[in-house]
Order: sequence, then structure tokens, then C-alpha cells
Amino acid sequence: MHQMDFFQNSVYYTVSAIAHRSLCKDCLMNKLLFFIISVLYICIVPFTFCLPYDVETKFQYALKSIGRDWLDYDQCDRRCKWVYGNSLTITGTRLHIHECECYNKLQLIGIIKRDNDYDPPVMPKTACCGADGINYPTQEAACTNGTYALHGGYCGACSSHEDINIFNITRNNMTSISTKCAVKYVLFGKNSATKCMTNTAALSVECTECWVENMGCDAAQCLTLCAIDRILHVNNTKPDGSLNDCLACDEGYCGKPFIVCAGANRRRSGITSDIDRPQDTIWKRYAC
Ligand SMILES: *[C@@H]1O[C@H](CO)[C@@H](O)[C@H](O)[C@H]1NC(C)=O
Ligand SMILES: *[C@@H]1O[C@H](CO)[C@@H](O)[C@H](O)[C@H]1NC(C)=O
Ligand SMILES: *[C@@H]1O[C@H](CO)[C@@H](O)[C@H](O)[C@H]1NC(C)=O
Ligand SMILES: *[C@@H]1O[C@H](CO)[C@@H](O)[C@H](O)[C@H]1NC(C)=O
Repeated sequence: MHQMDFFQNSVYYTVSAIAHRSLCKDCLMNKLLFFIISVLYICIVPFTFCLPYDVETKFQYALKSIGRDWLDYDQCDRRCKWVYGNSLTITGTRLHIHECECYNKLQLIGIIKRDNDYDPPVMPKTACCGADGINYPTQEAACTNGTYALHGGYCGACSSHEDINIFNITRNNMTSISTKCAVKYVLFGKNSATKCMTNTAALSVECTECWVENMGCDAAQCLTLCAIDRILHVNNTKPDGSLNDCLACDEGYCGKPFIVCAGANRRRSGITSDIDRPQDTIWKRYAC
């Protein structure tokens, strides 16, 4: 177990060091490496997925299975659960570069597209999550029922004082914590990212799951944009106040599944975070 951690951390820090340009002075090597990896990623991965099944050789078949398991980041599983209901018996595997096969137990129930739709979440105006874990239409309704609103929007897996308190404490470093754990997702898979989040953020098990699923979604939907932004040390927000490409991709393609799962995020809990933009409205609790 510890050897595995040591190995994973070694690989993580080596990759980070390369990404952070600390291994070379003029960074030509890094740019070259990044270029080679990009070419491999852009050319080989689609190629292996685009081969028709009937002409595939054993080699092509092997590449395809690697691509399915390694480069899917559990996206098909999440997509199938999203489309067919988040049941424990629904699973998905990658069929093609843009397609997933969905199963209920072992029964094939459909083939769906792998990419999420662009659908950024909007804060519902007529919902808040009460401290008793019940959704209320307004803060007043929560107050008249003898409780108070914990956060804006519907309740979810992070709708607890404990998790919201952690969002508050880590408001200035959660983006870097979760980026680090997301890199572990890309390199070593979901379990590694879960462990990373548990050790560094210590959110509840259910809330951690939402964050880790979001990392898998980012890896599947936004990997190239996020790798570029990370390597170039791009700020979270652009000068005009909009999100950088990576965070904008996350919000547009992965934000909705995340907020449905988590319920509470920083903004909905009234916490100003490291990714806030001037035009954002931060939810406010009024005393009752
Ligand atoms: C008020 O709270 C009770 C339990 O304490 C709950 O059963 C009821 O649904 C709540 N009312 C509303 C309007 O949510
Ligand atoms: C966050 O922490 C600050 C103190 O650091 C506190 O004043 C504020 O009320 C907290 N916000 C929430 C939403 O818990
Ligand atoms: C994040 O910031 C908080 C508060 O400044 C600190 O207690 C915590 O150790 C930091 N976590 C990491 C992983 O840097
Ligand atoms: C990033 O943000 C900091 C302050 O938040 C600013 O000083 C710096 O110029 C920004 N960098 C870029 C490339 O916009």
C-alpha cells in the first residue's frame, strides 16, 4: 500500500516538475515533450477508436482496450448513469471515441454519445437547502418551519455544516488541491484521486465522491484545455472577469452533474472563493 503511494507520488511529482518547467532552463525540452504527448494523444487515441471492428487485428484490439480503460476516465459510466438514472445497476463502457454502451446489470440498454452537453448550471431562484436536509422554496419557508437555509439551490451530498465549513477553510486553496488530485485521476485513476482528496481536503465520503466524479468529467471533457492552462500557469480568471478556458469548460460541461450531486458549492454556500468572478452573485443567508 505504502509502496504504491510512494510510486504514485514519485510519478506525480516528476510529471508536475516537468509541467512546471523546473527541469529545464529555457523549457524547450518541456515544450517538445508536451508537443510529443499532444501528438500522441491527438493522433493515436482517435485512430485506435476509429478503426472498424471487422478489420481489427489483435494489436488494434489491444490498443482499443487500453484506450477504453485508460482514456475514458469513467466518463461512459457517469454518462450512462446520468441518462438512465443514477442506479447502482447501470454501468457504461466506452464503445468508440464519441460513444458509450450502457448496461443495466449485463443487459445492453443503449448506445449514447459520450460527451456531455454544454449546459452550465443556473442557481435556482426558488430553492434552498434547509439545515434539516429538506429543500424549501424560500429562506422564509425554512424559517417558519423552525430551521434555516444552509445554502442556495437543492440539497445534495455536500449539504452539511462539516463540508461547508471545509469549503470555507480551504476557499483559497481548494482549486489547487483539486487540480493536484485531478492530475492523479488522469495518471492513476479514480481511487488515487479519492485518496488524494480524502487526505488533503477531508470532505465527507459522499461529498468527496462528487468532487472526484467531477475530476473524471474534467479529464474526459476538458483535458487538453486544462493541461495547457496548467502548464502555462494561467490565472483562474481572465482580465475581463470571465473564467479561464479550463474552468469555463468545467462549468459548462461538468458543472451540472457536479451541482446535482453535491448540492452545495462555495458560491451557493455564501463563500467567496479563489475562482470567483466580479459578475457572480454569491448566495446570502439572512438571519431568521
Ligand atoms: C417541515 O418540517 C417537517 C419535519 O420537521 C417536514 O416533515 C415538513 O415537510 C417540513 N415542511 C416543509 C414545508 O418542508
Ligand atoms: C467562513 O469563515 C469566516 C471566518 O474565517 C466566517 O466569518 C464566515 O462566516 C464563514 N462563512 C461560512 C459560510 O461559514
Ligand atoms: C489550505 O488552506 C488552509 C487554510 O489556509 C490550510 O489549513 C490547509 O492546510 C491548506 N491545505 C493544503 C493542502 O494546502
Ligand atoms: C494574474 O493575476 C494577478 C493578480 O491576481 C495579476 O497580477 C497578473 O497580472 C495576472 N496574470 C495574467 C497573465 O493575467
